[in-house]
Amino acid sequence: MLEKLQPLINYIYIIASVLFVIGLKMMNRAVTARKGNLVSAVGMALAIIATCLLMGMEFRWILVGAVVGSAIGAVSSYAVKMTAMPEMVGIFNGFGGLASMLVSWAELVKWRSMGWEAYARTLDPGGNASAVFAAVAIAFTVVVGAVTFSGSMVAFLKLAEWIPGKPLLFKGQNIVNGLIVLTVVGGIIYFCLDPVSPAAYAVFMVLMVVGLALGITSVIPIGGADMPVVISLLNSYSGIAATTAGFIILNNGLIVAGSLVGASGIILTQIMCKAMNRSLANVLFSGFGAVTESSGTAVKGEVKALSAEDAFYVLEAASSVVFVPGYGMAVAQAQHVVRELGQLLEKNGAEVKYCIHPVAGRMPGHMNVLLAEANVPYEQLVEPGDVNPVIGTVDVAIVIGANDVVNPAAREDKTSPLWGMPIINVDEAKTCIVLKRSMRAGFAGVENPLFFKENTRMLFGDAKASISALVSEFKAE
Ligand code: TAP
Repeated sequence: MLEKLQPLINYIYIIASVLFVIGLKMMNRAVTARKGNLVSAVGMALAIIATCLLMGMEFRWILVGAVVGSAIGAVSSYAVKMTAMPEMVGIFNGFGGLASMLVSWAELVKWRSMGWEAYARTLDPGGNASAVFAAVAIAFTVVVGAVTFSGSMVAFLKLAEWIPGKPLLFKGQNIVNGLIVLTVVGGIIYFCLDPVSPAAYAVFMVLMVVGLALGITSVIPIGGADMPVVISLLNSYSGIAATTAGFIILNNGLIVAGSLVGASGIILTQIMCKAMNRSLANVLFSGFGAVTESSGTAVKGEVKALSAEDAFYVLEAASSVVFVPGYGMAVAQAQHVVRELGQLLEKNGAEVKYCIHPVAGRMPGHMNVLLAEANVPYEQLVEPGDVNPVIGTVDVAIVIGANDVVNPAAREDKTSPLWGMPIINVDEAKTCIVLKRSMRAGFAGVENPLFFKENTRMLFGDAKASISALVSEFKAE
């Protein structure tokens, strides 16, 4: 029966894989992203159906898992705040790693209890399964799955601020990590030589524990500001773990889906590192943020505050305005009033753009999502590379709760931890108005010389309240 169904199952997996690829491609653009998500979800539903067919009568447990998992996923995605999305992605990555780790454990137990011949037939009724291949896949999966799980949990705890976000460094950290890696390599080799021996089972357990320890020791020293990069990297690891789990059970759908997650996670990691002008090695091993408060040249100058009324006069006279949103806009939920102000400025004859830095906010695409929610036209969204060359001609740059991504120390101060990070050069606009509540530093904990520049004016207060006041001024005119 199963042999008859096999070609159909393979076709369904192929269609599901094609839908994953199309969905990913559609997520590249804000206009098509929602549909892309739906297309990928249909692909996943097809993959689940194919797997149920593959399992014959055993499928009811898959259905129970799918129903319970979907319910938890649906409730948590409705309940989660937009600003807490990275934590949620972190947890989901972790559970992906945990699932792969458990698959490898379960498969090893099955192999040991059934013996190779019988177990191999469950993997491939055609008799093409290889014991060495299965052993290597089991060993890799348990390690990568364990690293992904514990690393993601630490990343979640840091982002949720349940543990300090600062890098926790201890002496000899890299040596400890090196020893763990050596244990892992030795353990994998030993395990693969005779995977069903009692000693190999003990080694398998050691690999699991050491993998969990490696996840913790490699994420603990990384600062909160670098967590999005780590989450993206762990996302990639969860894909790799799923792929190797797919190699254990010889499931094409899992191999393809895992490879796509692994590859897209690595690409996103690269994009984020590039946006911060840092290498991945620097993100992972430099303990960025551990020294930020003491480094960087002390900022001198005078802070010039202005009222909403004065800001209105500056804006009323402007013929070009660039909004630069940051994390504070998300906290204040100011996107709708920002859009309203943008429309009023356009009515007043100004050219309006919204410039988004790739790491503004707390997750990739954070600002794009918020502005899209407020129906800001896509053609008004621009990137730093479009605005920086002409920023000198911009009359007013309005910084809404952004800080690190507009910090000129990245350009001017070689001792600053932000040195070299590409920023939006709002300090070079004719006038720069910064909306924030206090003089507190941003996520990286670095002081911002922008606030002390000659052409900068600070509009203190909650961003939504300040923008609403400006909107009222325009409406009163
Ligand atoms: P930040 O540098 O974190 O600055 C945000 C500013 O918003 C703060 O200085 C804060 O100042 C202000 N703020 C907070 N609530 C506000 C409110 N209700 N009204 C007005 N202002 C408010 O933000 P950014 O410029 O967007 O930079 C992002 C940083 O986070 C980077 O360091 C980046 O590496 C890191 N990061 C990025 C991501 C991704 S992928 N986007 C994820 C995690 C971390 P006050 O307290 O004085 O108001």
